Amino acid sequence: EPAELLAAFEARVAADDFIEPKDWMPEAYRRTLVRQMSQHAHSEVVGMLPEGNWITRAPSLRRKAVLLAKVQDEGGHALYLYSATETLGTSREEMIDALHSGRAKYSTIFNYPTLTWADIGAIGWLVDGAAIMNQVPLQRTSYGPYARAMVRICKEESFHQRQGYEIMMALAAGTPDQKRMAQDALNRWWWPSLMMFGPPDDNSPNSAQSMRWRIKRDTNDQLRQKFVDVTVPQAEAIGLTVPDADLKWDAARGHYDFGAIDWEEFYAVVRGEGPVARERMQARRKAWDDGAWVREAATAHAEKQRARHAA
Ligand code: ACO
Repeated sequence: EPAELLAAFEARVAADDFIEPKDWMPEAYRRTLVRQMSQHAHSEVVGMLPEGNWITRAPSLRRKAVLLAKVQDEGGHALYLYSATETLGTSREEMIDALHSGRAKYSTIFNYPTLTWADIGAIGWLVDGAAIMNQVPLQRTSYGPYARAMVRICKEESFHQRQGYEIMMALAAGTPDQKRMAQDALNRWWWPSLMMFGPPDDNSPNSAQSMRWRIKRDTNDQLRQKFVDVTVPQAEAIGLTVPDADLKWDAARGHYDFGAIDWEEFYAVVRGEGPVARERMQARRKAWDDGAWVREAATAHAEKQRARHAA
């Protein structure tokens, strides 16, 4: 790659300029963006499944309307992210094909089942909470279309986080059975939520280069620590217990120390061995196949409009 173009690119990144679709960029930068952004888009799409599972069983009309809106938001996030990724020269069909054929990754967190209504609270509170922690810095990621997509996504994610926490508040202040349900959901979602941030920094092959290119603005461990620091007091405030015997406030560091994460479990889920990984991919492929007529109808309609316009 031409040295002077590379130097100019690196200077722009170092000056916190946004790189735009028609700008010159190193091939490896483009590849890294396509990898991260398409995985992110897939996570939004697959993330609709565990919650979609509870729309028909939400405990009230209000809860149902809110959940429906939230799940639709996730579909919208995927749409912005696929569109932003297409500006790098990869088509949506290619990306979706990579997902459906099992070549593409998506977040480990969506391979866990939603067993009770409290799981919907835990997902909003913890999973969307972790997502915001990771995504707020991405509003300043170096690729312009990705950064701009993240602005709206973050606004919606913060609404999602609050609706989840509010479900947990209601359950934790409810009957003993409801409180037990909330605690059980926290117990099951806590550790997988910490895993969302990715492997520890000393085992994160992409971090160093992505930090240099300012695609990532914080490391996996930095964001994980921030999440623990913010979330533990939220659990305490509603009388729930974080399932970690080693968790304690470290006054000297000004952070919570927390127990060891089961990285074996993380890597198994990344390999596609998550508890409901097969069901998730089956549901995705079925949704794609069942939606074929909609895509065909939309294409036929666009064709007809074009012909009319030309006439
Ligand atoms: N689930 C699945 N795969 C993961 C996860 C995870 N939680 N964390 C890391 N990985 C994968 C990485 O994709 C990478 O594999 P690859 O090289 O084949 O892509 C490998 O593990 C090693 O990890 P890192 O070197 O740390 O990878 P990276 O620098 O890309 O960091 C991270 C991972 C933090 C997830 C980053 O890609 C990111 O910030 N992505 C954008 C946010 C996002 O995707 N969020 C999705 C969940 S939130 C939501 O959608 C509601």
